[in-house]
Formats: sequence, structure tokens, C-alpha cells
Amino acid sequence: MRALGVIKSKILVEENIISKCGKFILESVKLCKVLIISDRNVAKIYLNIVSRELEKLGFQVQVFLINPGEQSKSFKTAEKIYNSLTLNFMARCDLIVSLGGGVVTDLSGFVASTYHRGIKLVHIPTSFLAMIDAAIGGKNGVNSKYGKNLIGTFYHPCLVLIDPLALKTLPPREFCCGIAEAIKCGCIGDKKLFKILENQDFYNNIEEIIMRSIRVKKNLVEIDEQDFGSRVLLNFGHTIGHALEKIGNYKKLSHGEAVSIGMNEITKISESMNLTRFEVLPRLKAVCRKYFLPTHNNFPSNQLQEAVLHDKKILNGYLNLVLIKDIGEGFIYKIPDKEFINFLKNKI
Ligand SMILES: NC(=O)c1ccc[n+]([C@@H]2O[C@H](COP(=O)([O-])OP(=O)(O)OC[C@H]3O[C@@H](n4cnc5c(N)ncnc54)[C@H](O)[C@@H]3O)[C@@H](O)[C@H]2O)c1
Ligand SMILES: [Zn+2]
Repeated sequence: MRALGVIKSKILVEENIISKCGKFILESVKLCKVLIISDRNVAKIYLNIVSRELEKLGFQVQVFLINPGEQSKSFKTAEKIYNSLTLNFMARCDLIVSLGGGVVTDLSGFVASTYHRGIKLVHIPTSFLAMIDAAIGGKNGVNSKYGKNLIGTFYHPCLVLIDPLALKTLPPREFCCGIAEAIKCGCIGDKKLFKILENQDFYNNIEEIIMRSIRVKKNLVEIDEQDFGSRVLLNFGHTIGHALEKIGNYKKLSHGEAVSIGMNEITKISESMNLTRFEVLPRLKAVCRKYFLPTHNNFPSNQLQEAVLHDKKILNGYLNLVLIKDIGEGFIYKIPDKEFINFLKNKI
């Protein structure tokens, strides 16, 4: 078992922890009513195990299932969950357990933080992305018709239980999404993690990869909980990545594929500005390819420029780009948006 604390959350990583979750949850909260929130894909595989575990120990378990997919991460779904919590007479001393990918953990975190101004929360992330990213750091949210994650809060689960064995049932494309974020973590803050991803067998090192990725996020989140400063480093590859996802209408590229292209293209630019060592780009490309992630933008450059310009993160004509000097050394580079657009025109 590996353990780590991130702000107010205890994080435990162990194979098969899902089948022993009751014991760990009972160490963190008293016996109470529990609402398990999951999506229908994940529920088919893991819901019975989790609910049986909790009932066995005396928790009173109710379940709320959502349809898989980003469209469930909405205020409408949140409202249905509030209603279910109310009809089950659940109070602040009761508990929400999220069981699923980032959609489920984000939605559950949002509901937990707002119902009765904050009800207890435990995350059991089941996708790789949720294990190393979405369930860590306290951000949650729902989407609105104007954009993703526009409504949300910062709220920490008391416990996060990570079972690497759950990855065995994750569809390969979803897996790659998480791997792109792990590569990102290696790039901005942990060259050993990058080397493991580069040279070692993934499954033999899965716990180490999870722990190291979480630690990179932990180090940034703990000095910048509310996302005003250094947490921005977690956006490496995301300025171009978000723009590419948008051009593809969130259908052509998955988030991880877009981030992979974003990391490679931004590093191509920063290399040409002499801000990144020359060995970095070939290594980054090779590691992305190892995990079948794309590294090159195929959309027309003018569409990319337009999408970057519409990004909400441009402030007073400047963009905070996240670049890497070397593997494991991320930094923030402020650049006028026009200058950056010129680089996009010439380099991508
Ligand atoms: N809060 C944060 O800091 C943060 C960080 C990154 C991403 N996010 C959010 O996370 C969401 C994306 O998360 P995601 O990639 O996990 O997507 P997801 O929750 O949609 O899960 C991906 C798919 O995999 C399935 N699945 C999950 N675990 C499974 C398993 N073990 N076996 C079989 N199928 C499984 C799900 O049913 C779903 O179909 C986005 O909404 C994003 O905004 C939040
Ligand atoms: Zn991301």
C-alpha cells in the first residue's frame, strides 16, 4: 500500500483496494448514509463490490447512476442528485462516494460541496485520468452551455482510494488520455517519472507512475490551491490542446490526444526560441508515440490561431505559456498573444 496526503485528502493506492474499500472508508468517516454516484459503464463492473462492502459494515447505501459521458456533467444532473439526497434525508454527516472517471468525480465533488454547504466525500477514481488528475487537488465542476467547467468549487474529499487493477477494464483510448497527463507531469516536474514512462514496462511500474504523477500535482496544488499562480504549470500542452479539441468539436481528438499534440507543438516552438534544450523534443515525441499518442497537428494553422485567440486565458493581450527547459523543468513564459500567433503561423 502506498499513501500520500494532498491538502485535506488522504490518498491510498493499492491493487484490489476496491474490494476492501469499506474498511478504509470506515477509518475516515463514522457509519452513516451513503450515496454512491457512478456511471452505467463503471457500475456494471464495480458497483456491486463497493455497495456490498459498505453494506456489510453497516452503511445505509443508496445509488445514483448517470449516463457515461461529458454531457452528464451538467447542472441538470446535479439537481437530480440534490433531489435524491433530499428524498433520502441525507445530512451533512452523511457521505457521497464517487465511483468512476473524471466526469463522475467532478460532478460528485460539485454536488458534495454544495449540498447542505458541504457533505462528506470519498473518491474512488476508476479511469487513469481521474486517478492522477481529476480526483486530486480539490477542483470540481459542471459544464454550462457556454463552456466546460464554468461552474464549480474547490472542495476536498477526505479520502481517495486508487485501485490500479481497475485500469484493466478501461478502454485503451481512455487509458491513453491518462498517459498523456502522466507524461505531462514528468515533463514539468519529475524527470524520473518521464524516464520510467520512456524506458520501462508500464504495468510493472503502475503504482510508481500513479504516485509520482500525483506528487507532481500535489507539489503545485499545495502552494497554489486556488489556481492563481504555479498551478498553471499543469497546463503544459493545454493551450494548444484545448484549441485543437475545440476545432475538432470535442469529437475528433480526445483530451489526451490533444494534449499530446499540444505538448509536442509548443516544445517545437520553444525549441526554436532557444528556451528548450535540443534533446527534449525527440524524447517527448518518442514517449508519446510509445503510447500511441499523436504528436503533430493536422488541422489548418489558421483555425488553430483563431481558436487559441478565443481562449479565455488570454489576459490584457498576454498569454502565460507553459514551457519546459528540460525534462522535469517546467516554467511559465509570458508572451504577447500576437507574437505567439506568429509562431503558430510559422512553425505549426
Ligand atoms: N477536477 C480536475 O482537476 C480535473 C482534471 C482533469 C480532468 N477533469 C475532468 O475529468 C473529465 C474526464 O475524465 P475521464 O477521462 O475519466 O472521463 P470519463 O469520466 O468520461 O471516463 C471515460 C470513460 O471510461 C469509462 N470508465 C471509467 N473507468 C472505467 C473502468 N475502470 N473500466 C471501464 N470503463 C471505465 C467511463 O464510463 C467513460 O465512458 C472531464 O470532465 C474533465 O474536465 C477534471
Ligand atoms: Zn488535461
